[in-house]
Amino acid sequence: KKVVLAYSGGLDTSVIAKWISETYQCEVVTFTADLGQGEEVEPARAKAEALGIKEIYIEDLREEFVRDFVYPMFRANTIYEGEYLLGTSIARPLIAKRLVEIANETGADAIAHGATGKGNDQVRFELGAYALKPGVKVVAPWREWDLSSRESLMEYCEEHKIPVDFSSSKKKSPYSMDANLLHISYESGILEDPWKEAEEDMWRWSVSPEAAPDEPTYVELTYEKGDIVAVNGEAMTPATVLTYLNKVGGENGIGRIDIVENRYVGMKARGCYETPGGTIMLRAHRAIESITLDREVAHLKDSLMPKYAELIYNGYWWSPERKMMQKMIDDSQEFVSGTVRLKLYKGNVIVVGRKSDESLFDEKIATMEEDAGAYDQKDAEGFIKLNALRLKIAASKGRSSL
Ligand code: ARG
Ligand code: SIN
Repeated sequence: KKVVLAYSGGLDTSVIAKWISETYQCEVVTFTADLGQGEEVEPARAKAEALGIKEIYIEDLREEFVRDFVYPMFRANTIYEGEYLLGTSIARPLIAKRLVEIANETGADAIAHGATGKGNDQVRFELGAYALKPGVKVVAPWREWDLSSRESLMEYCEEHKIPVDFSSSKKKSPYSMDANLLHISYESGILEDPWKEAEEDMWRWSVSPEAAPDEPTYVELTYEKGDIVAVNGEAMTPATVLTYLNKVGGENGIGRIDIVENRYVGMKARGCYETPGGTIMLRAHRAIESITLDREVAHLKDSLMPKYAELIYNGYWWSPERKMMQKMIDDSQEFVSGTVRLKLYKGNVIVVGRKSDESLFDEKIATMEEDAGAYDQKDAEGFIKLNALRLKIAASKGRSSL
């Protein structure tokens, strides 16, 4: 019996590693990924070794994360409950996939994670794992043990001689945080009172809009089939694009939100998120679509987007319905190519220009100046009259609201 654990190298997952090997008398394989959380992953190797772990996986998944998860999601202009760009939600399916692949490679029959029993993450890890490896077993220590306080975790460490850096864990942030290239999130602590404003020093990735420079930053994003392929005319890989946009976005106070969201498990939770690059990407993608997409395609996409967002939030990335929707979304992006010019200024992302060889925008048709022939204003009269017919009938039957 062997378990593959999603291991951060922190206190919680270190205790979990030990706890699993003792409770289940089994071998633990650790998996630590660099998803752009901004912390070194290599130190996790020494920590895992100190716990007696023999099989240690440490991987840089930044490019795969942005290319195969973030980019496809942004093709749909995805946003949950009108605000949340799904920074945590979209990373979980990749972690679930790697846990399963490593289980297959190492002959493990179970996966484990450090998510609590109250949140969405447990659902996402586990739905992903079951979808990719139907017979897999799941170990979720936070639902099984009684080490719910920080003190009892520390005690467990002392008893079991788990080497943790107590000084750094004392300085630990008072928030429950999660970060990757798309976002950093903060929950719990003083945020549990939804009326209390977050302290300014909580935010780690962006300056406040008030403190942002008085001069705007211009940026040009080039799209090919719905994905950003170049910034300011320079070709860049997906992870490089997002890294760059996080930097300029953060410097200009872009991408902070403070929301109360509905968790899949039923409760409401208050969360603060910084998504500088993603906030820019959403704006820019809508701008390039505005000139390249057919109206009905754009509106149909928009009407389906909340469902697609919900699937990702709720952990159904690996479901047949999400894959089906993805095909449709990807298909819609065939002509979504061109360049968007943006101005970043004190928390705002302002689109100032867009152009495309695939543009459907026709100056000759849109102009108020002179008729080009494609649009005959006389046609508008009949168009309006036929569309008014049912309104007139209803009104003539006395259904007019006046
Ligand atoms: N509430 C957000 C979500 O469900 C963020 C979760 C953060 N996760 C964490 N382990 N701190 O996507
Ligand atoms: C957790 O419970 O582990 C974090 C919050 C969430 O998953 O929603």
